[in-house]
Amino acid sequence: MKKILITGGAGFIGSHVVRLFVNTYADYEVYNLDKLTYAGNLENLKDVENKPNYKFVLGDITDAEFINNLFEEHKFSAVVHLAAESHVDRSISNPLDFVFANVIGTVNLLNAAKKAWGCNKDKPVPTDRIFYHVSTDEVYGSLGETGFFLETTPYDPQSPYSASKASSDHFVRAYNNTYNLPVVISNCSNNYGANQFPEKLIPLFIHNIKTNKALPVYGDGKYTRDWLWVADHARAIDVILHKGELGETYNIGGFNEWQNIELIKLLCKIMDKKLGRAEGESEKLITYVKDRPGHDKRYAIDASKLNQKLGWKPSVTFEEGLEKTVDWYLENEEWLRNVTSGEYQKYYTAQYATR
Ligand code: NAD
Ligand code: TYD
Repeated sequence: MKKILITGGAGFIGSHVVRLFVNTYADYEVYNLDKLTYAGNLENLKDVENKPNYKFVLGDITDAEFINNLFEEHKFSAVVHLAAESHVDRSISNPLDFVFANVIGTVNLLNAAKKAWGCNKDKPVPTDRIFYHVSTDEVYGSLGETGFFLETTPYDPQSPYSASKASSDHFVRAYNNTYNLPVVISNCSNNYGANQFPEKLIPLFIHNIKTNKALPVYGDGKYTRDWLWVADHARAIDVILHKGELGETYNIGGFNEWQNIELIKLLCKIMDKKLGRAEGESEKLITYVKDRPGHDKRYAIDASKLNQKLGWKPSVTFEEGLEKTVDWYLENEEWLRNVTSGEYQKYYTAQYATR
């Protein structure tokens, strides 16, 4: 029986990873540790919350004593670390929140794992333990018109968010090098799909189109992102955790670049069809607004290593994934209503505060 700790499992990507693991590995005990910040929502996991191999733990990764006690009590053999502050715009307004959660939180987890697993340079790297750190392509910085991020591309983070993620990645590698902690890191491109908090581009714009609100396009809209369906990211994490080589880094992406404005037009077209609007109706909501400061021009991931060494590739095209995503948001109005009204937090915070 494997005891596995997933941090940030109530968030967007984390909830897909928790669901995949709980449903795939009946013999694992899956612990989901989450602080339930504004981005954490246990409604995301309603379908697995009563499974015998799933447990939720309310807690903060910045609390070192709590984290050490948790590791002592549970003897986890694997950690999949996703908990983080994740929104670039919030990092511009409140950079220190990102230092606490993303840097200090990660170092607390590394310290607890190192202690629990008895790692130090005098002993070989344990091969029956693994600390999997989930990171982002944004640590590599911003690309020009051509080229791709490789695992060997030097780090060049440009936003407080990516600077905090880059710092956490450096600590993970430093713990591998200095204390022989068994680690693996993956750097993924932009995710989209069900359960994403509607502050990020795709869910925000689906919500705004549905409610006939302006679509705020930053700058000239010619910024480029590389999009991956969240369930494919979860599958990649599963493959890397089980088959990846310790000490290695894997880029995750679907070779799927879109200029923001082109993506937004495609989304408007899909929404017109789903909502029975005349073609071109939703595009009228597009409103160009002031640019994000220090906005990264282009991200593009080369995921050949993951593809060639571990055989992973995306399961859907972008058009298929985007349509599934739109359908999910349209069919889950209550989820969106609870999130936009803040109801989801009141309910769960009250429920767990009494424990
Ligand atoms: P999210 O914001 O949706 O979820 C983050 C989760 O972490 C939430 O449930 C939140 O409650 C929890 N959390 C935050 N601070 C915490 C703390 N101090 N203690 C415990 N829990 C805490 O984020 P996401 O989009 O699901 O991203 C998950 C991870 O994947 C992050 O590490 C992010 O950097 C990385 N990533 C995200 C993307 C993307 O496109 N969203 C792409 C590549 C990598
Ligand atoms: P976002 O979803 O915030 O992800 P990231 O900044 O991590 O890439 O934004 C995706 C792209 O969309 C990015 O270029 C910023 C842009 N954007 C807008 O133009 N308007 C918006 O309201 C948002 C949230 C993002």
